[in-house]
Amino acid sequence: MIQKINALLAEVAQAKAKNAEEVEQFRLKFLGKKGAMNDLFEAFKSVPGPEKKDVGQALNQLKVAAAAKLEEFQQALEETANDQVAYDPFLPPAPYPIGSLHPITIIKNQITDIFERMGFNISEGPEVVDDFHNFEALNFAADHPARDMQDTFFVQTNPDILLRTHTSSVQVKVMREGNLPIRTISPGRVYRNEAISARSHCFFHQIEGLYIDEKASFADLKQTLFKFVQEFFGEGVKIRFRPSFFPFTEPSAEMDIYWGLETEVDHRITKGTGWLEILGCGMVDPQVLENCGIDSKQYCGFAFGLGIERIAMLKYQIGDLRMFSENDLRFLKQFVGETA
Ligand code: DAH
Repeated sequence: MIQKINALLAEVAQAKAKNAEEVEQFRLKFLGKKGAMNDLFEAFKSVPGPEKKDVGQALNQLKVAAAAKLEEFQQALEETANDQVAYDPFLPPAPYPIGSLHPITIIKNQITDIFERMGFNISEGPEVVDDFHNFEALNFAADHPARDMQDTFFVQTNPDILLRTHTSSVQVKVMREGNLPIRTISPGRVYRNEAISARSHCFFHQIEGLYIDEKASFADLKQTLFKFVQEFFGEGVKIRFRPSFFPFTEPSAEMDIYWGLETEVDHRITKGTGWLEILGCGMVDPQVLENCGIDSKQYCGFAFGLGIERIAMLKYQIGDLRMFSENDLRFLKQFVGETA
């Protein structure tokens, strides 16, 4: 009997199984109800007493070896099955977390969409500009005190080159291209050398608007902006224009939106007044047209520049500007599913 067991041990050691069927054959042959092991255990009963110990040990050895081999086969089968799953090109892809647009992008898209429907096109300009585009062409003379209103980042090696402090620099670019009449909006990032706090940041986003034609009035400007806020915030929106000053527009104004304290979640947004300034605007100064090569006797127009963060703060009731640039996922995840 020992010989028979040893022969089977050798067989187990050399056994191979290529597929599930062969694994099953192996199992039946050795470990199945009618398999070799059961037969041997049956025969073991009639082994004479003195041989029992040796035969018993050999039998156990065979049982362990057969069971180990079976497990090896089964694992190998599972692995090939997994491999097949991983490479199956017809399986649907694994679920992938859906990202969201940044709230600034959402608001920017919503605003540009409204102006596009009003017939404005989109133009863009560089973030690094020369003094002419950011200041000089817009009537900021070299010693003009209005330059102090916009703390500027200059390129250290060349004070004529700077990070644009406003998207009004794109106005200059578009006017110099000279395709009249002009109805354009220019979204983009701007930079100011300011301390970072809940209400100010060293970079933020604006949308510039420019309308140049043979006829344009302050009433057109007001109506364009009024239509925009109605589209954006709803028919019942309350606004006010306040006289202001910009070197490149005359007359100039600022427009505030009334949010109302009752519905204001974060009172930092309107500093407890209910009103928030969202844009500057005015009639383009004839001198600016001339600076950009447009005949101011034939053409006139209006311009405006609005702050995207301000509008996003109002709409989403966000009291701290820093939220927009920190990229905290807990903040950004709240905009999943928002459409622009
Ligand atoms: N550039 C101004 C600023 O950043 C905003 C502005 C005011 C833009 C009046 C305009 C305008 O186009 O007409 O504060």
